Amino acid sequence: MSSPVESAKKLAAYRAVDENFPENAKVIGIGSGSTVIYVAERIGQLKNKDSFTCIPTGFQSKQLIIDNGLKLGAIEQFPDIDIAFDGADEVDPQLNLIKGGGACLFQEKLVAAAAKKFIVVADYRKESKKLGESWRQGVPIEIVPNSYAKVTQALYALGAKKVDLRQGGKAKAGPVITDNNNFLLDADFGEIEDPEKLHVQIKLLVGVVDTGLFTQMASKAYFGEESGEVTLWKV
Ligand code: A5P
Repeated sequence: MSSPVESAKKLAAYRAVDENFPENAKVIGIGSGSTVIYVAERIGQLKNKDSFTCIPTGFQSKQLIIDNGLKLGAIEQFPDIDIAFDGADEVDPQLNLIKGGGACLFQEKLVAAAAKKFIVVADYRKESKKLGESWRQGVPIEIVPNSYAKVTQALYALGAKKVDLRQGGKAKAGPVITDNNNFLLDADFGEIEDPEKLHVQIKLLVGVVDTGLFTQMASKAYFGEESGEVTLWKV
């Protein structure tokens, strides 16, 4: 039997696909993480699955598309996406997001930005009043590798309480390398008053590729609850 969290992820993902998948969609963005597994599964059950192309947000996402028998395309071929589905690490009521816990934030943001509609799928642990309240490991920031010392210094100057170069842990001695051959910093700013302002300040630092703060991108977020219900937030 699956755990309450796993059931919540599946419920949210299935509901999001069932309520939002456009009938005549041609190009679909598929995000990364453990909740999107169920998005790809649900889309893979559609009878017309040969009539649209799926754009991945990284290596894991590409495998999900292939494993579910979906047509794989590249963002370079399809820079206009009808709808994209993705997970999140934390979501506030304005649908500002922290993403990048799975190290895929840059391609996730590229796909979300290319999509006419961007839908978030998550379990109840991701619902938050303010970003930084429950996701305590910091804002993920993708950087060009040799900029890490300079960007770390600049993040402290912007008010970060703690900045870590993300490490591979048991799986790799040394830093995590993203799908784009970059490094990641996790910068803890505590509770974030103005996510858009913070995003802009960080993005302007030389060496920063992008931040895991996604503002004004998502239009709906589906949360699977412990009770078996699905909560919908929209803007
Ligand atoms: C990947 O970099 C992240 O942004 C994921 O989308 C996010 O961590 C959500 O993952 P889960 O669905 O596994 O919680």
